[in-house]
Amino acid sequence: MRWFLLLLLGTQTSQACPGVKMVVSSKGLDYVTDLVTGWVQEKLLTADLPVVSGSIIGVSYALYDMKVVKVDMPQPSVNFEEDTGLRVEFSGLAIAVAGSWRTSFGIFKDGGAFELALFNTDTSSLLQLGRDNQARLSVECLTCDAQIGSVDVSFHGGASFFIQAFVDLFPGHIKGIIQGNICPVVEDQVKNLEEILAAMHVDYHVDPSLIFRVPLTNAPVVKTSGIEVDLKGVFYSETHPKEPPFPPEVFQLPWKADYMISLGISQYSLNTYAYACLTAGLFQINVTDSMIPPSSPIRLNTSSFGILIPQLPKMFPNMLMELQVFADETPAVSLHMDSFSLVLSVAVKAYAIDNTTARRPLFRLNLKIQFNGKLNIGNVTLMGQMQLENLTLSLASSEIGTFQTKTLESTASWAVKTVFLPKLNAMLQKGFPLPVMKGVTLAGPVLQVKQGFLAVFSDVQIKYPLRTQEEF
Ligand SMILES: *[C@@H]1O[C@H](CO)[C@@H](O)[C@H](O)[C@H]1NC(C)=O
Ligand SMILES: *[C@@H]1O[C@H](CO)[C@@H](O)[C@H](O)[C@H]1NC(C)=O
Ligand SMILES: *[C@@H]1O[C@H](CO)[C@@H](O)[C@H](O)[C@H]1NC(C)=O
Ligand SMILES: *[C@@H]1O[C@H](CO)[C@@H](O)[C@H](O)[C@H]1NC(C)=O
Ligand SMILES: *[C@@H]1O[C@H](CO)[C@@H](O)[C@H](O)[C@H]1NC(C)=O
Repeated sequence: MRWFLLLLLGTQTSQACPGVKMVVSSKGLDYVTDLVTGWVQEKLLTADLPVVSGSIIGVSYALYDMKVVKVDMPQPSVNFEEDTGLRVEFSGLAIAVAGSWRTSFGIFKDGGAFELALFNTDTSSLLQLGRDNQARLSVECLTCDAQIGSVDVSFHGGASFFIQAFVDLFPGHIKGIIQGNICPVVEDQVKNLEEILAAMHVDYHVDPSLIFRVPLTNAPVVKTSGIEVDLKGVFYSETHPKEPPFPPEVFQLPWKADYMISLGISQYSLNTYAYACLTAGLFQINVTDSMIPPSSPIRLNTSSFGILIPQLPKMFPNMLMELQVFADETPAVSLHMDSFSLVLSVAVKAYAIDNTTARRPLFRLNLKIQFNGKLNIGNVTLMGQMQLENLTLSLASSEIGTFQTKTLESTASWAVKTVFLPKLNAMLQKGFPLPVMKGVTLAGPVLQVKQGFLAVFSDVQIKYPLRTQEEF
């Protein structure tokens, strides 16, 4: 029984191992709070207030045409609450509202204008951040408490005999009503936020043929200094989605309080990108003579290849050749302190093409190519520059007998440097998208290559309001 449980837990933890981690620090939370505070203040000033009606001592009243004329909103305090989520506190909020009133008491009707001010309004709510059953971030209002310090109302107009009694009782009456309505409004806003989160994608297209899958692997980790969100961070080919045949590795992303966000991208996540490209068939190319640069001393034909393989032009005189090049293993990215390397395992099948375009297999070569490189970071992309470190070539099979591969190996090295590497570097300069939402740009990002993962520490700039429905 116990081994069974261990097995179960074991598989769960290996499944739950994230490929990407993101930490938002208190500094990041302060920045978001500032943005949202300005937005809330603006919202309050332009809010349409509904008609409020009721009755006091038998007098029916209605308040209408109400407008918020002034909001005095001190900076709210928003803090991480360990193991729970966020505590949001407003204190000393003051709001002035102007509008019209009317009353009726039997056949007596009355009306006029009024001003109402709420002072020292305090609210405190605790929001729970979690992971919903679709593995997305969720938010829920756990507790809410609202207090109004005092209410000032002045009525203008009104001449009925009952109006003074009404005016005397009104502030206490309306204070109770407003106080009772604050938390339902807060809860509604949190529900709206939850709906936005629930509609967020966990799959993003990063390329026409690749998908980046980022569901939460576990509930967010909340400490007083920040929140960490752990994401699966696995790339899939859209047409041939397959689980990568290698497991994720545990990594610890350091939390840096001086930066708004810290982002960790594991070597595993980068390798799933390579694996997805492989399964999507992006690492395959058929090389023909027309693709060889005109400056090349060697053409892709049997006579030209005679320099490298003497028997070839004798067996197949004067024929064009074609090379089928494909990766036969997942390219392996490894990240070390301050550098990274990429190992490609490539197979080359050579064919001779006769005038009927029939293909005659000639031989197959296996190549192991190692590139080393440096990474740097743009606003929202990861970029790199690589160089050839090592290339080894071996003959895997041959239909034309064996031959020496030493010259072929140096020719392949030359071809990789002059043809393949510039293309690869151009691709790396275009960059690899960082998992950051549209509308968010990194300000002063710092990239560190750690053992097994990349760490990006940065401040952010957000174009508010965020368009949450968009892709990365
Ligand atoms: C290369 O040629 C082979 C044989 O004609 C074909 O099956 C394959 O799809 C081609 N690959 C690419 C990437 O064009
Ligand atoms: C093969 O390449 C040589 C140059 O190395 C060129 O002179 C010759 O015309 C080419 N033959 C064919 C069939 O393309
Ligand atoms: C193809 O070339 C061979 C000799 O290399 C020749 O005998 C044959 O007639 C040619 N066929 C065509 C269709 O050109
Ligand atoms: C980063 O963004 C700034 C301003 O948005 C822009 O001027 C700059 O060219 C961008 N840098 C890169 C590397 O994309
Ligand atoms: C290149 O790779 C071969 C085989 O993997 C190895 O024996 C050799 O030491 C490597 N050379 C360099 C310079 O890394």
